[in-house]
Amino acid sequence: MNTAIVIILAYLIGSIPSGLWIGQLFYKTDIRQHGSGNLGATNTFRVLGKKAGAVVTVMDILKGTLATLLPTFAILSNSHVHPLVAGVIAVVGHMFPIFAKFRGGKAVATSAGVLLGYHWPIFVILLIAFLLCLKAFKMVSLASMFAAVVAFIYGLTYAVLDQEYLLFAVVTALATFVIYRHRANIKRIKEGTEPKVTWI
Ligand code: G3P
Repeated sequence: MNTAIVIILAYLIGSIPSGLWIGQLFYKTDIRQHGSGNLGATNTFRVLGKKAGAVVTVMDILKGTLATLLPTFAILSNSHVHPLVAGVIAVVGHMFPIFAKFRGGKAVATSAGVLLGYHWPIFVILLIAFLLCLKAFKMVSLASMFAAVVAFIYGLTYAVLDQEYLLFAVVTALATFVIYRHRANIKRIKEGTEPKVTWI
């Protein structure tokens, strides 16, 4: 029973379309109609500004963290769901949200939240990698994909040194989600039309 509860809760938590709901509730704006059309944190910054963008970033990260922590809650502790698996389910919810016609985000912030909940040092390393790449190239999409590659390398290192195969499988899956969901961004980067940020 608790196994099903954890799986369903993780999916529902991941499904919360923070950017869409914040936009509709407080700005009377559907961010899917503006900017890149994505309902993630980056497009929220772009369309609704810094305050909304920061709130959505934190919410999307916390979705992954909360889902990852679900199996450790005493009331759900005999669920047989590994925290990382619960986290991946939340990321699937973020990409295919039941509350937004299954058209969700690009998996970046929620994946980061999963890693924050499971093993915070990797979150810090990925944040540094993200910011360095963002500083150098000014493209959030490129920085997100760079962080995904760094996560893969980190997972591979742990698999080789510590036999942490589940972590490796999960970061490989998350990195694949992130890069696959950035197909349109990759095309724009190649064409030289990907938007750049000016604030870093
Ligand atoms: O987190 C998604 C980001 O990497 C790209 O978003 O809106 O520029 O496609 P966007």
